[in-house]
Amino acid sequence: MTLAICPGSFDPVTNGHLDIFRRAARHFEEVVVLVTGNPTKTSGLFTVQERVDLIEQVTADVANIRVDFWGGLLVDYTTAHHATALVKGLRSSLDYEYELPMAQMNRRLTGVDTYFLLTDEKYGYTSSSLCKEVVKYGGDVTGLVPDVVVKAMKERLR
Ligand code: PNS
Repeated sequence: MTLAICPGSFDPVTNGHLDIFRRAARHFEEVVVLVTGNPTKTSGLFTVQERVDLIEQVTADVANIRVDFWGGLLVDYTTAHHATALVKGLRSSLDYEYELPMAQMNRRLTGVDTYFLLTDEKYGYTSSSLCKEVVKYGGDVTGLVPDVVVKAMKERLR
């Protein structure tokens, strides 16, 4: 069985992330979207459990996507679950610079490879942090994050 892990903080999940999960699910038999972070800490806008709940809602229609969380070293999770690969999205060369050392470190630690999918151009400027800022000041991010996430962000930020 081929298992891909899509890791990230996802605070909150965006349509750019969702597009990557769905595309990964066409290439691997199973995909786990892994929310990283300490489940007992409330350092982000949403708790780890809230992030998991939102992702579960927006991936419920894809049978081979599951959602989990992890507070440790990513490669310990991939090894324990016999993951085939990590899968991440790349929006630009900035993402590449950020992702390269992590991918190389993870490969050095356990041999796990990271596969990169190029972000759909319509989400090229979408990020969780930018969407949070726009919503905080009253702007509209409809279409950039799932509707259920728009609602949750408004309730939390306004
Ligand atoms: O969404 P993000 O914040 O860009 O995701 C980065 C993430 C969570 C994938 C990275 O920080 C991570 O892997 N964290 C888990 C701890 C770990 O394994 N750190 C070493 C990475 S080489």
